[in-house]
Amino acid sequence: MHFDILTLFPGLFESVFRESIVKRAVDAGLVSIAIHNIRDYAQDKHHVTDDAPYGGGGGMVMKVEPIILALEDILGAELIARQKQTGEIQVPIILLTPAGRLFNQEMAREFERYGHIVLICGRYEGVDERICELAVTHEVSIGDYVLSGGEIPAMVIVEAVTRLVPGVLGDMRALIEDSHASGLLEYPHYTRPAEFRGLQVPEVLLSGDHAKVARWRRQQALRRTWERRPDLLKRAKLSEEDRRFLETLQQQKESPEAEEACPHEEREGPAH
Ligand code: ADE
Repeated sequence: MHFDILTLFPGLFESVFRESIVKRAVDAGLVSIAIHNIRDYAQDKHHVTDDAPYGGGGGMVMKVEPIILALEDILGAELIARQKQTGEIQVPIILLTPAGRLFNQEMAREFERYGHIVLICGRYEGVDERICELAVTHEVSIGDYVLSGGEIPAMVIVEAVTRLVPGVLGDMRALIEDSHASGLLEYPHYTRPAEFRGLQVPEVLLSGDHAKVARWRRQQALRRTWERRPDLLKRAKLSEEDRRFLETLQQQKESPEAEEACPHEEREGPAH
């Protein structure tokens, strides 16, 4: 997997990519990252990369020319033009912007499958719209809030995609069971000691009964998702048993006194 990152602040990436999972993936030759300074592609004497917006208003806008020159240097003008003409994407050119589509695990999987992506980190009020018309294939936001630039969002995408590259995570189970991989939030985890300051690990996890543990975990994942992110349930793959369990949760919410009549829940969970 190869990442090209275009930024005005290359130094921001140093420490993040020098540690942890991304570093291990790079050291193992599974991932490569090239950071490109947009300023190096500014043509004028002072290497200016931004200018005042046409039509007035506050803030500055990133100029189109240095960004397109950087992209052409990295990918070649032909590939960029062909992608725009045909809509057939070989290398996604992703602009990080709060006005983009919301990044999620499915998008991370999609980007990983390309094997090569380009990330453009916007700054200031935004970038000249013509970069989107000429080159950008995806505009992506990492959340409904505004950051000072696309650098941290680019780090988020590099990390999320790197984790999906085959061989990067030693234990594949960790990946498969991750929050969001199944479309649900993850169940809670516990490790030793079995009791801490009066708080017990749920009995079922100590039982050695794998089927019961699996059922408890599934129900915890369903319960958490139902409580915190009900929007995810619409797209999650649910079995008949899952649906029955969710119905029970809903009934309990509507008439809490019916709690005792809950036939489906694996009972040995922690207090909520
Ligand atoms: N740039 C500024 N805020 C952003 C966000 N939320 N996502 C992506 N890029 C951004």
